Amino acid sequence: MSLGDKEQERDHAERLRERTSKSEQFHERATRTTPLGVESNVRAFDPYPFYVEEADGSYLYDIDGNEYLDFLLALGPIILGHGHPEVREAVKAQVDKCDLTATPQPVAIEFMEKVAEMTPSIEKVRLANSGSEATMHAMRVARSYTGRDKIAKPEGGYAGAHDYALQSVYASEEALGPADAPNTVSYGTGIPEAVSDTVVPFPFNDKETTEEILREQADDVAAVIIEPVMFSCGCLKPRDGYHEFLRDLTEELGIVLIWDEVMTGFRLGPQSAQGRFGVTPDMTTFAKAAGGGYQMAGFGGKAEIMDEIAPPKKKEEEKWHASAFHGGTYNGHPVSAAAGLKTLEILDERDVYEHIEEMGDRLFTGLQEVADDVGIAANVQHIGSMGQVYMTDRDIHSYRDTWHANEDQFADWWLEAAADGVLFGNPMQGERFFTTYTHTEEEIDRALETAEDAFRAVDHEYE
Ligand SMILES: Cc1ncc(COP(=O)(O)O)c(C=O)c1O
Repeated sequence: MSLGDKEQERDHAERLRERTSKSEQFHERATRTTPLGVESNVRAFDPYPFYVEEADGSYLYDIDGNEYLDFLLALGPIILGHGHPEVREAVKAQVDKCDLTATPQPVAIEFMEKVAEMTPSIEKVRLANSGSEATMHAMRVARSYTGRDKIAKPEGGYAGAHDYALQSVYASEEALGPADAPNTVSYGTGIPEAVSDTVVPFPFNDKETTEEILREQADDVAAVIIEPVMFSCGCLKPRDGYHEFLRDLTEELGIVLIWDEVMTGFRLGPQSAQGRFGVTPDMTTFAKAAGGGYQMAGFGGKAEIMDEIAPPKKKEEEKWHASAFHGGTYNGHPVSAAAGLKTLEILDERDVYEHIEEMGDRLFTGLQEVADDVGIAANVQHIGSMGQVYMTDRDIHSYRDTWHANEDQFADWWLEAAADGVLFGNPMQGERFFTTYTHTEEEIDRALETAEDAFRAVDHEYE
């Protein structure tokens, strides 16, 4: 990047900085106590994050008193708008009734019944507190079921923050090696090589290479874990027939097919992405929208697989080592279960999907139009209420395709829009953003005006 571009980049942050002096000070304070001044890495960005005081409906309010029209939506969970009155009531009622007990509570069982009723692949289900825990446990159960050790996953996919998931998430071309024979590359330090040796990456949307890799390692691969739409790379849609092909291949090879629906679950429809695409995996993980803004996650699937957690026959003879362990002090926390149950009931019974998808179509097709009007190279991808803007005019079908998108320009565009009070997700090109039930046509149209101004502001040379 030339010095001229760097100066431009500083300018793009300047307007947000002017509005957020309290956040700037708070950030200084926060960094003394916590790395990067945030609770989770994804919340950090340059020059500093703004700190939020309040959220209501479609809006966030920061500690400087600025209002933001929210399309970040807590990275997905806020599907009914912030603080939906009925969800809030359900939470309050549960708080008044009973906190954590470590003896099972009906509300958690009722929540699981609702999950199973709505999700085609789920006969039995267990709960967790985060998507990461859910994917970790699902992988273990699949290993237990198959007696195999390895997990296959698409390159570029994020399936959580545990060691088995943090493989081939972000890495350089050099580290990843050839596209048709990709290396396993751990994301960040502190991950044992022995773990990387058990993870097999394959290229999303490339049937031929996927098949070659899976057939070659079939005897060792317990599960394929895959997002139905790779929102962890922005918004990579499956090519026609890719999931059907993977369903058939995994079945033939005796590999458990896990759909990681942490992002898509209860977002892409009442039956999640699996209902939308008509493909039924063996296991499913979910989180985010399932808790309606409260901490909730889980995994489930065929009863025969889930019963690895307590195989009835083996239990007596081999008490100590015949089952796959699953536990957690906070699993099925009654407050989250109450919030999740109310959220799922609303999702199942009202016109939520119709509305958020209408808003999604208006927003994402509108973004493509305004980018085209400005004459900026942008490829806007979306499905329903979720999508992303890639700063490139190239087609995007795989993680490696996303390398063509201009990350700096995207971050600058995001900063310009944030300074005008609209949050198009966060400033990372590999993320995505959402619509929610409280969004109105007027809000979408205002967001598009802001987006257009922001596109104009970043319509200059980048390297
Ligand atoms: C597809 C997918 N799987 C797993 C996770 C991990 O979920 P959590 O952040 O709740 O641990 C995420 C988080 O964004 C995700 O997008």
